[in-house]
Amino acid sequence: MPDGRFPPGFFWGAATSAYQIEGGVDLDGRSPSIWDTFCARPGAVDNGDDGSVACDHRRRMPDDVALMAELGLSAYRFSIAWPRVQPEGSGPVSQSGLDFYGRLIDDLLERGIEPFVTLYHWDLPQALEDAGGWPRRETALRFADYAAAVAAALGDRVLHWSTINEPWCASMLGYCSGVHAPGVVDAGAAVAAAHHLLLAHGKGVDALRGLLPDDANIGITLNPYPVVAAGSTDADRDIARRVDGVANRLWYDALLRGTYPDDVLDDFKAVSDLSHIRDGDLAEISVPLDEIGINYYRRHHVRFRRGESSAPPWSNWPGSPDVELVQPDAPVTAMGWAVEPDGLVEALLALVNNYDAPAIYIHENGAAYDDRPGPDGRVDDDDRTAFLARHVDACLQAVEAGVDLRGFFVWSLLDNFEWAHGYSRRFGLVRVEPDTLRRVPKSSALWFAALARGS
Ligand code: FCB
Repeated sequence: MPDGRFPPGFFWGAATSAYQIEGGVDLDGRSPSIWDTFCARPGAVDNGDDGSVACDHRRRMPDDVALMAELGLSAYRFSIAWPRVQPEGSGPVSQSGLDFYGRLIDDLLERGIEPFVTLYHWDLPQALEDAGGWPRRETALRFADYAAAVAAALGDRVLHWSTINEPWCASMLGYCSGVHAPGVVDAGAAVAAAHHLLLAHGKGVDALRGLLPDDANIGITLNPYPVVAAGSTDADRDIARRVDGVANRLWYDALLRGTYPDDVLDDFKAVSDLSHIRDGDLAEISVPLDEIGINYYRRHHVRFRRGESSAPPWSNWPGSPDVELVQPDAPVTAMGWAVEPDGLVEALLALVNNYDAPAIYIHENGAAYDDRPGPDGRVDDDDRTAFLARHVDACLQAVEAGVDLRGFFVWSLLDNFEWAHGYSRRFGLVRVEPDTLRRVPKSSALWFAALARGS
């Protein structure tokens, strides 16, 4: 067990997001988010599932915090539901919504669990989508107002803030491939959405800096993935360049260097005149950060395959016409994702070697497996424990190589609503019984608890 070899004060936590666990859609004057709307679209989500009940965490929060304490977690990463605290996406806030998060934070602090807040984990108020959503510049301004409202209410108690979770998913899956909410298929809109999510981040950081105490740490959460060219032709290498450009360099270059990569902008010109990028935007986007969250699940091995559609090759991946995703020779999780822990070391080294990186946290790492309770009710998910142990070892390797890594959050605390897969994919350390919503810690939770306590 690698405990003790991590830096002192290293956080061992679990992560969730609001729409995936809260339910309670009828409380706090909450308005629909784009995920409520998307779930109602026939065929959008497996089994017609939605987040209206989810894990019922909005009602069961005190018990969930008690469970985290039993598991010895030293940190908890959660997101705030914008439609719960500012139902229309602008204008008045819901005091009851803010109070819910205030109680959550107080309960965590009382039990010695450090709160890590994410302001946006994909649940845009539907009213803002109706007004144009992320492809519209105005949404970035609304985000900054929302960030300020949350900071004014909760800023005295939270030291770790992430503006936005995985803007790649929010833009590319939401507006290009359309497999996530709001389910739009329009590559040009996705390119504009990517820029406005970054702009929202920059404006959000600025708003937070004005309101939070000096010791607050502000950052963003990205999901970089190492891209491997699984073929040796020029076309294979070019596809790898394009996918790497949109998955990794676009975000890092903008945030940490204040530029967009030229080759990515050239690729984008096939679908956009780029007029949404205004003078001064990149300076705002590259405002200094205190920390960055990395979500790592797998590498992407890609090669060229002539597709039938005219969509740009980087754009609506997965499912992009010219990108074939190749499975490496490695075991896969229930998501069909290859298990490649060394890709995590590679991702971290790529960040610190190529950029001036702030402190790093693994904001998400974990695996879905088709685990089920045995006759005694226990869930022995040894495959998940093995997955996590190998990725914790990868973190240790990165630390030994000099990466300033400060914490590791398992995705996820609970089995929950896994977006377009509904409840069919279970990532939790803790099982949530489908009928009763009873929480049952799996053996991986007990393993993780021992790790968290030992370090
Ligand atoms: C990430 C998301 C998170 C969860 C995991 C499996 O992309 O941030 O909400 O769905 O994947």
